[in-house]
Amino acid sequence: MSTSAVVILDFGSQYTQLIARRVRELRVYCEIHPCTLSLQEIRDLEPRALILSGGPASVFASGAPTVDAGVFELGIPVLGICYGMQLTVHLLGGEVEKATEREYGPASVEVVQSRGPFAPLAAGSSTDVWMSHGDRVARLPTEFEVLARTPNAPFAAIAHREREIFGLQFHPEVGHTPRGADMLQAFLLETAGCAADWTPENFVERSVVDIRRQIGEGHAVCGLSGGVDSAVAAMLVKQAIGDRLTCVFVDNGLLRKHEAEEVARTFRDRFHLNLVAVDASEEFLSALHEVVDPEQKRKIIGKVFVDVFQREAEKLSQKADFLVQGTLYPDVIESVSFKGPSAVIKSHHNVGGLPERMHLKLVEPLRLLFKDEVREVGAAMGMPRDVLWRQPFPGPGLAVRCPGQITREGLDVLRDADAILDQEIRAAGYYEKLWQSFCVLVPVRTVGVMGDERTYDQVIAIRAVESKDAMTADWARLPHELLARISSRIINEVRGCNRVCYDISTKPPSTIEWE
Ligand code: XMP
Repeated sequence: MSTSAVVILDFGSQYTQLIARRVRELRVYCEIHPCTLSLQEIRDLEPRALILSGGPASVFASGAPTVDAGVFELGIPVLGICYGMQLTVHLLGGEVEKATEREYGPASVEVVQSRGPFAPLAAGSSTDVWMSHGDRVARLPTEFEVLARTPNAPFAAIAHREREIFGLQFHPEVGHTPRGADMLQAFLLETAGCAADWTPENFVERSVVDIRRQIGEGHAVCGLSGGVDSAVAAMLVKQAIGDRLTCVFVDNGLLRKHEAEEVARTFRDRFHLNLVAVDASEEFLSALHEVVDPEQKRKIIGKVFVDVFQREAEKLSQKADFLVQGTLYPDVIESVSFKGPSAVIKSHHNVGGLPERMHLKLVEPLRLLFKDEVREVGAAMGMPRDVLWRQPFPGPGLAVRCPGQITREGLDVLRDADAILDQEIRAAGYYEKLWQSFCVLVPVRTVGVMGDERTYDQVIAIRAVESKDAMTADWARLPHELLARISSRIINEVRGCNRVCYDISTKPPSTIEWE
């Protein structure tokens, strides 16, 4: 870990990842760990500061998550947020009580003392904060004092009189607490003396050293999809071990127009990666013949991918010992976060068990990064914007954009329409504003008239959505003139399509992809 690392102990709050985001935005390195870590394990991480997250439990509920009270004796600053503050009070001899009503929403706190997280705020001033808690502190441990209060919460922020132990009843990590970032900054940089050295350049430097150490004189193989994550992961490993990395790019026949050639050109000619490009479209499309069920399609595509990848990797002149994957931090957190005593911890999915099947050790250089940090790291390595800001594209590709049976003819219609949409969206300056924009081939034929002829052709649906994280999404309010241009070009230029629709469904209850 960095010498300035902060450990966030997760008590199951929906906001834990957000705390980590805020800390990283301050350029301070942090890691989320489950609250079930032992005191020794925490000590071994050598954190510079500790943050105890919020959580849905009540400190007095049976089986409520807790932490060894020894964390307060480690001599490092501790900040408890919401449940983390209640637990601090509970463990240090104060009293927490059940509130009759949950306090949820905005509140204005009055600053009593300008110390610790409240150092940037003048005593006597007020600031808005976001509350979301059930229980509340009834009595402070004797060594504690009040930093801020609201009419409802006399202990909205508290501090140990002598030691650097703080508690916030509200959530400094959410946007509704406008001075929250300043509070975290004061706690981390001033109180804890963390260095703001978590920069993309430093990350690249450290990763290269770590990857060299991990791979030694070995060889690595990487499945390149053309997407941001695998591209940045591959470039980091290339910086570390040069030509001992081979990338395998599999054309599954479900890619967009000219995508296979473009990916090969970009990574081979511009990035000088050692690239094996395989055209396995025949194999994928025959395995998908007459398959209609979306989950079945995904399973087949995953299985054929593993077969093809393994075959190609085994053909390499130097057998690989390592598999490079672009796993991101949210997947890692998902597999370690605290979900209560009975929860089964989910293991994050690798590509269909490839590492086990091929006896490869995993190299995951992005496993500590959030998506936007991946882009920053890519930019720090000089990767171009058109690669770093590509819209997401699903692994199963156009298969999940052709509801029903997948045919070569259908795929060609979809590809031609999608290429027009892509051109127009980019030309109108919408490409980077949208989470995704793509076409779907609707499996029905409708009647049209072209010249004097009756036509009976396919329908194309356009899907364009705005989203922050794909968990929720809204359909984009694209200008009518733009939609008109796209529709008219698709109908005029794409043979086999005589109708275009615009998908105006939000997620939920719809999903972004049609399958
Ligand atoms: P949905 O359709 O679930 O999609 O709203 C959310 C995001 O995930 C992408 N997606 C996939 N990505 N394999 C992938 O790698 C898949 O099977 C898959 N299904 C959906 C989708 O493009 C969107 O960004």
